[in-house]
Amino acid sequence: MHILIIGGTGFIGSWVVRQLIGDGHVVAVFHRGHTTADLPPAVSHIDGDRNNLSAFASGFTQFAPDVVLDMFPYTERDAALVMQTFRGVAGRVVAVSSMDVYRAYGRFSRFEEGPPDLQPFTEEAPLRSKLYPYRASAQQPSDLAYNYEKILVEKEVMSDTELPGTVLRLPQVYGPGDPQRRLFEFLKRMSDARPIILLEEGRAQWRWTRGYVENVAAAIALAVTNDRATGHTYNVGEKEAFTELEWVERIGKTVSWTGTIKVIPRFMLPAHLVLPYDWAHHLAGDTSRIRRDLAYEESVSVEEALRRTVAWERAQPPKQIEPSHFDYAAEDSACAKSQDNRITGANAGGRHSASQHSGQTDK
Ligand SMILES: NC(=O)c1ccc[n+]([C@@H]2O[C@H](COP(=O)([O-])OP(=O)(O)OC[C@H]3O[C@@H](n4cnc5c(N)ncnc54)[C@H](OP(=O)(O)O)[C@@H]3O)[C@@H](O)[C@H]2O)c1
Repeated sequence: MHILIIGGTGFIGSWVVRQLIGDGHVVAVFHRGHTTADLPPAVSHIDGDRNNLSAFASGFTQFAPDVVLDMFPYTERDAALVMQTFRGVAGRVVAVSSMDVYRAYGRFSRFEEGPPDLQPFTEEAPLRSKLYPYRASAQQPSDLAYNYEKILVEKEVMSDTELPGTVLRLPQVYGPGDPQRRLFEFLKRMSDARPIILLEEGRAQWRWTRGYVENVAAAIALAVTNDRATGHTYNVGEKEAFTELEWVERIGKTVSWTGTIKVIPRFMLPAHLVLPYDWAHHLAGDTSRIRRDLAYEESVSVEEALRRTVAWERAQPPKQIEPSHFDYAAEDSACAKSQDNRITGANAGGRHSASQHSGQTDK
């Protein structure tokens, strides 16, 4: 197949490109040329800015894509431009979305209010009723966060009468090259041989669907190359949404950390560890539809995924670290003050009923 990728040199996109080329497809990436990735030489590059997408129409027509994969449609305008540009040029558009479209996310991030939704959520679960979840963090209307809204992106892609679409709702993605370095806050403490890692009670039992980047890329490649995905929306992610406590334990096991995870109430947390979220709202996505329709399954186990991610983190540590995020004196003091070191089974959830967990021996 001829596949045109908008983006394709970023964290997730570069893995998708390598997967598609490995599967024998003809791939072109459209990007500005600011971000480079180690891509196979067979990949063609079309240099340009997506804000000016229609100016590249003749190059796109020449490439004749069967499918256009949009790796980063962030705004309604982004998606509208893509649909407009590729009507009559491509056979289908696959848009990468996010699980932040769900109402559960809106409530978790305190962007909107209400009781917890059913978990895990399927693709039919309620979406947020309020739009533009990151607008408050934008400095000015030209900032990406101002108009970011995947709900509107999805609407554009799925409502076109001439050009069919597919939507992929991604989870928290981790792996080598992760610009958000999702493991770092724990890994650094483990590398520093910290005897304790503090976790807030609510956070310890909070579940979040994750996906290892190579597996997520394989799921995206499947949705691009399999026509059965036409007209469908899919949650993508690991089958099991681990609690944060289970996740930190797994990281600890990967690096043979011998310290203890201490679960304490919010009011006892040092200020630098207090997060603004409502942990009552889990973000666990049901991924059975993509497994059933497209026979998706992970080829890299969670254990191996963590090993690869840790190896990358160690080989390429961040250039800058904010010292106030690692105020160990405050953590030691909070630990010493937490006299009652047990929480109830109901609060902790399942077998994680005690407040202290050995990073090395619990699994
Ligand atoms: N990471 C997560 O945990 C997570 C979770 C949920 C959803 N997602 C979704 O995953 C996607 C991100 O994928 P990714 O990690 O591969 O992307 P990325 O790392 O953000 O890379 C962005 C790509 O787009 C290109 N690009 C940026 N601005 C451009 C412009 N104006 N015109 C043309 N090209 C431009 C970049 O190349 P140039 O700089 O060379 O232009 C690069 O190839 C997003 O849709 C995001 O919402 C991610």
